[in-house]
Amino acid sequence: MNPSLTSIADVLLDRSLVGYTKLGSGLRRLWWPADPPSDALAGKRVVVTGATAGIGEAMAGSFAGLGAEVHLVGRNRDRVRRSAAAIRETVPGAVVHDEVCDVGDLDAVREWTDDLSTRVDALHGVVHNAGAMPKQRVETPQGHESQLAVHVLGPHLITDRLLPLLRNAGGSSVVFMSSGGMYSSALSADDLESTRGDYDGVRVYARTKRMQVVLADAWATRLASGDVRVESMHPGWAETPGVAEALPTFRSITLPLLRDARDAADTAVWLVATRPESSPGHFWHDRAQRPTTFGWQRPQDPAVVARVLDAVSSMTGTTRNWAALGD
Ligand SMILES: NC(=O)c1ccc[n+]([C@@H]2O[C@H](COP(=O)([O-])OP(=O)(O)OC[C@H]3O[C@@H](n4cnc5c(N)ncnc54)[C@H](OP(=O)(O)O)[C@@H]3O)[C@@H](O)[C@H]2O)c1
Repeated sequence: MNPSLTSIADVLLDRSLVGYTKLGSGLRRLWWPADPPSDALAGKRVVVTGATAGIGEAMAGSFAGLGAEVHLVGRNRDRVRRSAAAIRETVPGAVVHDEVCDVGDLDAVREWTDDLSTRVDALHGVVHNAGAMPKQRVETPQGHESQLAVHVLGPHLITDRLLPLLRNAGGSSVVFMSSGGMYSSALSADDLESTRGDYDGVRVYARTKRMQVVLADAWATRLASGDVRVESMHPGWAETPGVAEALPTFRSITLPLLRDARDAADTAVWLVATRPESSPGHFWHDRAQRPTTFGWQRPQDPAVVARVLDAVSSMTGTTRNWAALGD
C-alpha cells in the first residue's frame, strides 16, 4: 500500500478515536509491521501481571503461543490457577507458571521478586498489565492510594528489582500497559496520594496512566545504553471484565465496536517478540509509536517530571539518581 496514504489514514484513525475500536486494528492490520515468527519466543521467558482476566490473560496465551515460558502474576491464587489451566488447555505445549503477588502491595512485590530471582536466571519480557479503576479511594498495606500503587509504584519496584534478570537475557523488553485515557490528564506532582477533595476514580486512573507513560520513558532513557528496552502503550478499547465493571455505560454504548482482549494485547506481544527501535516518548498503539501529548496540550514540564520521578523513587525506596543513571 502507498506509505503516505496509510500514514494519513493511521493518523486520522488515531485522532478521531475510531482507531481505538476494532475498526482501527482491523484496518491497520493491512499495513502494520509483520507478525513475529511463530517460534519468536521459543526458549524465552516472559512475566505478565494482571494475567487472570481480560487483556492480561489473552496476552499470556499469545506469549505461550509464540513459544515463551510465561509467568502469570495475579493477586488471587485460585484465579491464577484457573487462568494457567485455561492457557494449558488452549495452547498446545504451553509452559506457564503461577505467580501470586498483589502488585500494589510493595512488601509483597519485594517478597515475590526475591523469590522469582532465586528460581529463574533471565527474563526476556515483563509486561506491567495489572490495572483497576476503583470508585472509592482504597489504601494499600503501605498506605498508598491503590491506583498509584498498582499502576506506578508496584511496576516501578518490579522493574527495579527484576533488572538483573532482564539484563541477563541479552535483549529484553519491559512494557507498561497504559491507556488512551492518559491523554486527558497532564502530569502533576501534586497530591499524588489523591487525598484532597472528593475521590474521582476516573480522574485518578487517567493521572496514574499518564504517570506510567512518563515513568516508562524515564526508564527507557535510563537504560538506553544497554539492551533492556522499556516502552509504554495503550490497547485501544476492549471488551473485558474490567470495562464491564468500571465503565458499564461506556461498554453498553460501544460494545459492537470494542476489540477483543487478544486484539488489545497484540502490541504488547509484538513489542516483546520483535523489540523494535523506539524513540523518546516510547509510547505505542497498534504497532506504531504515538505522541504522548497533542499540539493543544502543554509539553511535559521537565521540573514536574523530575518531581514525580523523585517521589516514585522515594515511595518505593529505590535510587533517586535519575539523571545519572547510565547502564
Ligand atoms: N479494556 C480496555 O479497554 C482498556 C483500555 C485502556 C487500558 N486498559 C488497561 O489494560 C490493562 C488490562 O485491562 P483489562 O481491561 O483487561 O482489565 P481487567 O479485565 O479488570 O483485568 C485486570 C487484571 O489486573 C489484575 N489486577 C488488578 N489489580 C491487581 C493487583 N493489585 N495485583 C495483581 N493483579 C491485579 C486483575 O486481577 P483480579 O482477577 O485479581 O482482579 C486482572 O487480572 C489495565 O492496565 C487497564 O488499565 C484497558
